[in-house]
Amino acid sequence: MWKFMCLLAVLNTCYGGDESYINFGGFMCPREEEALSECLKDALNVYIPELATGLPKYGIPPCEPLMIPTLTIQQSAGPISISSTYTNVSVKGPASMKITNVEVNSSKHEVIAKLFIPELRMKGHYNLSGKLLLLPVEGDGNFSAKYGDIHAVLTIALGRLHRENGVDAIACEKLDVKFDVGSASINLANLFDGDNELGNTMNAFLNENWQKLAKEFQEPMEEALRDFLKPLADHAFGTLNANDIFLR
Ligand SMILES: *[C@@H]1O[C@H](CO)[C@@H](O)[C@H](O)[C@H]1NC(C)=O
Ligand SMILES: *[C@@H]1O[C@H](CO)[C@@H](O)[C@H](O)[C@H]1NC(C)=O
Ligand SMILES: *[C@@H]1O[C@H](CO)[C@@H](O)[C@H](O)[C@H]1NC(C)=O
Ligand SMILES: *[C@@H]1O[C@H](CO)[C@@H](O)[C@H](O)[C@H]1NC(C)=O
Repeated sequence: MWKFMCLLAVLNTCYGGDESYINFGGFMCPREEEALSECLKDALNVYIPELATGLPKYGIPPCEPLMIPTLTIQQSAGPISISSTYTNVSVKGPASMKITNVEVNSSKHEVIAKLFIPELRMKGHYNLSGKLLLLPVEGDGNFSAKYGDIHAVLTIALGRLHRENGVDAIACEKLDVKFDVGSASINLANLFDGDNELGNTMNAFLNENWQKLAKEFQEPMEEALRDFLKPLADHAFGTLNANDIFLR
């Protein structure tokens, strides 16, 4: 019997009313900053793949593919001056991301996560017109594009959400995404009214220079990723009490 009592006592120290552990979506995470960071990383790596299919019981709809209704890009750099509009863009790949590092800074009320996305695939409809090396270009049709080896940094600013008659909750006040792309390619169908020779030449040129051109896509893609991650972060941190993370 004393053995049983002892076991209970031990369990209680680890998981019970002990102040040194935080329940993060079922993961018992140590409160100490460094260990908490490691634990959050593991918990998020379990959460994220589930996001692809959605978490109906938490009101999170399936998030893949991610849809960007419309984005407009004005490119004018050197020999390129092209304005293009992309509509009904579907993005696949965010759910395969892996969190590689998490840093919790409780005094700064900030969580910084580094993540790796093996591939983002986009497709949709485009139309563009402009000039490339003084030659008029135009096109209207389907497109597909691919980003590979994406390293992203996610910065989450946490705030206190006051709860009447309770302990303050945590709110994600701001979520910021910045990323670096390893490789990129694009294919625009039906350029120059379907003139294949000109179209192929233009696609080849775009791909040779896509690394540079892709920068223009970066901001809207970062926004799309932010929209993907915000509900996850809201849910994940929403289960915590403010005092769990903030230094008192
Ligand atoms: C985009 O999708 C909407 C709804 O599915 C459709 O009505 C619209 O025609 C599409 N637009 C283009 C340019 O494909
Ligand atoms: C947390 O942020 C503060 C203020 O910027 C900084 O001084 C401190 O070194 C950070 N702590 C960690 C663990 O990064
Ligand atoms: C795209 O198509 C719409 C409607 O056909 C047109 O008004 C717009 O100017 C086009 N945009 C570009 C960048 O060519
Ligand atoms: C463009 O993409 C849409 C949606 O995937 C597809 O239904 C349509 O057939 C494609 N058009 C062409 C010309 O390939």
